[in-house]
Amino acid sequence: MTERTASLKFSDGSPAVTFPVLSGSVGPQVIDIRSLYGKTGKFTYDPGFLSTASCSSAITYIDGDKGELLYRGYPIEELATRCDFLETCHLLLYGDLPTPAQKEAFVPSVMRHTMVHEQMQFFLRGFRRDAHPMAILTGLVGALSAFYPDSINLHDARQREISAIRLIAKMPTLVAMSYKYSVGQPYIYPQNELSYAGNFMRMMFATPCGPYEVNEVLVRALDRFFILHADHEQNASTSTVRMCASSGTNPFAAIAAGVACLWGPAHGGANEAALNMLYEIQAEGGAAKIGEFIAKVKDKSSNVKLMGFGHRVYKNYDPRAKLMRETCYEVLNELGLHDDPLFKLAMALEKIALEDDYFVQRKLYPNVDFYSGIVQRAIGIPVQLFTAIFALARTVGWIAQLNEMVADPEYKIGRPRQLYTGSPRRSVVPLAQRA
Ligand code: CMC
Repeated sequence: MTERTASLKFSDGSPAVTFPVLSGSVGPQVIDIRSLYGKTGKFTYDPGFLSTASCSSAITYIDGDKGELLYRGYPIEELATRCDFLETCHLLLYGDLPTPAQKEAFVPSVMRHTMVHEQMQFFLRGFRRDAHPMAILTGLVGALSAFYPDSINLHDARQREISAIRLIAKMPTLVAMSYKYSVGQPYIYPQNELSYAGNFMRMMFATPCGPYEVNEVLVRALDRFFILHADHEQNASTSTVRMCASSGTNPFAAIAAGVACLWGPAHGGANEAALNMLYEIQAEGGAAKIGEFIAKVKDKSSNVKLMGFGHRVYKNYDPRAKLMRETCYEVLNELGLHDDPLFKLAMALEKIALEDDYFVQRKLYPNVDFYSGIVQRAIGIPVQLFTAIFALARTVGWIAQLNEMVADPEYKIGRPRQLYTGSPRRSVVPLAQRA
């Protein structure tokens, strides 16, 4: 909806140009500059997308100043306490929470697809045993397009829906397989009558040699982790998925691109990096060394960051962090780990950072990854697998965003422009004459 206009003036006397200002349902307005190049021959310059909305979307809303996160209008606090992950998947994919009848149909439709093609394990065998799970997962997710060629047409809504369900259903199986492969244990086939998170825990931790009891407190913790990570607006990996799919590639390939992007320590790799940071401080002397570590973080020349702190959008607090912190206490109590030295170290670090001027002035608060690493470690998930589990949870968000993009009549291939700073045109000098 156009309510206002914005004018752009130039100091060189070029005529001013006017653009529509568009309003969403909530949140900042945007200046629609699509006609800028046509009108002026100029581009905008915004590396890192600090002031650029790359698309319109009706899925997730974040108010970074208020610390608010909504999926399809529902606050994350209500979803995390009143719904389960598969209800959240239904919400993200189809626009609303399921009715009882819809849930009864949706849950088995996902759980029916949990098994992966039997040949997938031969593909997995090609990886070194010590390969990083994210390297494996990037390969396995991309390979799904070779195993399920009947659902790779991005422009066919039915095929998109099938690939969405397949991806959500198979991701836990693939993550658990990559774990079992790394420890040399037999793969555990999914059990579809278990809950989504319960089935994942069983595939991770059961062996064929004995019974496995699913601990409901841990299952709830994992389910909450999945809900909190399910979508997060136009973050780096989601934008990667949109950009990748904008070329018309298949959904599995686009999600594999999202997995690759998520791997980075400034994004999904932060929970792994946060826990490794705690291990390092502990190895260097624990709580007594926190002051020294914080001094290093504040010294720009050290290039050390307090991992699990800060966020591009949340400048007040990360609402997911509050919920994950709660879960962290629940899990540690359930497992009798409240005296765990690493957890105590994390709490001491959190306290100091929350009071220190450097962090307060820059509005650097703990983000969800600060606590989620501690929760995952307590559950028994190895540090190297953390980002893969984030990818598992984020898959539904990536798919919902991809589907929204493809269904948008304004959808075009993503093709940013640049400010060229290289050499102007020049001629090749013959080799013998080059100085
Ligand atoms: N430790 C120390 N200083 C920091 C940190 C940190 N974790 N984060 C930001 N700063 C400083 C930064 O050096 C800069 O200082 P100055 O103004 O003096 O130059 C200031 O705070 C502003 O930072 P920025 O780099 O402009 O902020 P950004 O929005 O570009 O970066 C971030 C956001 C998440 C990449 C960054 O805060 C960071 O690297 N944090 C650690 C990694 C992390 O925990 N990432 C997980 C994000 S949550 C998961 C997700 O949603 O994907």
